[in-house]
Amino acid sequence: MNRLDVGVYGLGVMGEAFALNLESRGLTVAVYNRTSEKTLQFLRGRAKGRMIQGFTDLKSFIGSLSRPRMIVLFVKAGRPVDEVVETLSGMLERGDVIMDCGNSHYRDSDRRFAALSGRGIRFLGVGVSGGEEGALKGPSMMFGGDFSAYVEAENKIGRAAAVFENSRCLSYFGEGGAGHFVKIVHNGIEYAIMQAIAEVYDYLARGVGLSTVEVGSVFEDWGKGILRSFLLEAAARVLKHVDPETGKPLVELILDEAEQKGTGKWAVEAAMELGVSAPTISASVAERTLTTQRILRRPGRGVGVNGDRDVGGAVEAARSALLATALLSYIQGISLLQAGARNYGFRVSEALRVWRAGCIIRSRIVEEFYRELSWSPGDPTVVVLEKSIPQIEELMPHWLQFITNASKMRIPTPASMSALSYFLSLRSERLPANLIQGIRDYFGGHMFKRVDREGYFHSDWGRGSE
Ligand code: 6PG
Repeated sequence: MNRLDVGVYGLGVMGEAFALNLESRGLTVAVYNRTSEKTLQFLRGRAKGRMIQGFTDLKSFIGSLSRPRMIVLFVKAGRPVDEVVETLSGMLERGDVIMDCGNSHYRDSDRRFAALSGRGIRFLGVGVSGGEEGALKGPSMMFGGDFSAYVEAENKIGRAAAVFENSRCLSYFGEGGAGHFVKIVHNGIEYAIMQAIAEVYDYLARGVGLSTVEVGSVFEDWGKGILRSFLLEAAARVLKHVDPETGKPLVELILDEAEQKGTGKWAVEAAMELGVSAPTISASVAERTLTTQRILRRPGRGVGVNGDRDVGGAVEAARSALLATALLSYIQGISLLQAGARNYGFRVSEALRVWRAGCIIRSRIVEEFYRELSWSPGDPTVVVLEKSIPQIEELMPHWLQFITNASKMRIPTPASMSALSYFLSLRSERLPANLIQGIRDYFGGHMFKRVDREGYFHSDWGRGSE
């Protein structure tokens, strides 16, 4: 029997789609799932007539693969990945490759990479973005782990990645969890932009009085310009979709509690740990959490519909808010990437390159920031910030109008507000941190630096004379 090129372990939505994608690129694929029924269903269904062989026992699945074996995991992050890695590594041989394509925490990938290297198994932690459609047609892929395994995977698995202007949206970011680190930053930006889109929808619908479908059309229109992005296009489609049973826009029937699987929170934790300020990502995670804390939500005075009577002006205000917030969310993400790059040794521009197609945050802003970073030397965050400052300054009057009017109508805009204060801080010659330093020294003798002398100082703040 001819041995198969790649093994896919885990036939959830992503695993199935990715197996079909690999096969469509001319690879022969072995598939395995913990519950055999799922494998059999897949073989009878979507995999029928394709060069995909299913296995119900692990030994034959592994035995069917050509050497060195390459097994792609689509398994729930956390313990399940550890369990599968443990089982597989006991059955594989030196030089075989385990490639974790789930949304694993980068520290887990660091740990698995180190443990498996010691046993001669080559580990790759791969951030895969694009949802089911991406997995099927071409995701963006962020690799980390064993470099020699990456080189082999690039030739095989890489064929399944998305393509942007003849360049495949995949890259190697360094050892251990580097690829999963980049994916976590991607998801932090994803959370921030989704929150920013949701709040302009809220303002236009609840505040200005546009119908759900009208907001969808406004988003479609914005999507023709600088705001072109997968997430805005997705939002427009969701807003315009009518529930066949009730005839109402389906989104109006969805419970207003946003769930999360943890990658946004991990981005915030990483920012805190690495000393990066990412307030819009943080506010977006916090807001998702707040939506589910029903007991704290105590509705007060309602919003006056048509509070903003100048509809054209309100739409322009919302567009400015979304654009400024999106730019600053990407900038915060880039700043977080830069901190990770110091540990893992990748180029920040590489992340932007592979985010241009296939992934959830693909957008014209990513394309423009990549172009800027690919030819401008220097600190990446400073480069994109300097490029954006004139644009954001121009948006500022409308952006402020959005925040003010939304607040007057009691519509929360946490993404926009946090982005605004981030921007104002970045644009302030002097910040009130001097007072914070003074108070720290007053109660704790923590010392402070002075603007007129070198070194650290302490004052008794007049207590000596009391
Ligand atoms: C992607 C997505 C995908 C998923 C995340 C976030 O890049 O394809 O990021 O991985 O959307 O798991 O999910 P939650 O919103 O449930 O946290």
